[in-house]
Amino acid sequence: MTARIVVVGSFNMDLTTYMERLPRPGETVHGRKFVTGPGGKGSNQAVAAARLGATVTFVGRVGTDSFGDTAIQTWQSEGINTAYVVRDPENATGVAPIWVDDEGENSIVVALGANLALSKGDVEAAREEIAQADVLIVQLEIDLDTVAHALLVAKDHDVTTILNPAPAAHLPESTLALADFLTPNETELQTLYDDVPDDLRQLVQAGGPTLVMTAGSRGAVWATESDSGEVPTYKVDVVDTTGAGDAFNAGLAVALAEGKPLAEAIAFANATAAMCVTRPGTAPSMPQRREVEALMQQT
Ligand code: RIB
Repeated sequence: MTARIVVVGSFNMDLTTYMERLPRPGETVHGRKFVTGPGGKGSNQAVAAARLGATVTFVGRVGTDSFGDTAIQTWQSEGINTAYVVRDPENATGVAPIWVDDEGENSIVVALGANLALSKGDVEAAREEIAQADVLIVQLEIDLDTVAHALLVAKDHDVTTILNPAPAAHLPESTLALADFLTPNETELQTLYDDVPDDLRQLVQAGGPTLVMTAGSRGAVWATESDSGEVPTYKVDVVDTTGAGDAFNAGLAVALAEGKPLAEAIAFANATAAMCVTRPGTAPSMPQRREVEALMQQT
């Protein structure tokens, strides 16, 4: 069965500089290499899901500038449905200057531009498409009311929802309650909840989202109200961790849409993220399904 995924989210043109180490405030350091490429958390997740074999629709906004053209070309070349992408004449396409050091760690600034103009009306335009999806994924690089509305539309039609609360932000209880799965990293979890207990089950409300926290080289930890567990990840040579969270969310969405049980879905998501960090860049570093399956078989 082919998974049907709708991503409501962002596109940014990534402007990445690779360097020995990240600069301290006030310091100038030399970059080794500068690369531009398609990015943005939403778009990265859409590209990864498509490469994993899903039928993907992207709902988002880009400007009428050349970066917006790159976005459209990227989605079309990946076979992603762009019927619900708005070209916004008033706002520039989002950009993300990124620094990556020799350990593969990164720092990112996002200037979200057109992404922030994505409206509830834009989501309504895609209602029929969302209604037919297996899974809807949202992140936080668009207006938070639009995030909540996308989740609401999906729940109207009993579509499984993944809320990737990245980049870190506080969210109202009413938005969290619309998610079936909440996928923060450790920092994002601390922003969402003032006190994070050792036992993550204590954060999960009855009927609230299942928590799936990514934990870098440890893999991922999950918790429901009554149960919890950890799924280790795969050992790989790390080149660039940028986009790893996006790869993970796409892997999770595709596996859940295909009906895999949670621990198996997380293992698939871990393998997708592990493959992603072995290459530079964000969208371009997203793996094909056969690569993910090969990694899972090797280990
Ligand atoms: O998650 C990685 C992404 O974060 C980058 O592609 C960048 O655009 C920012 O959105």
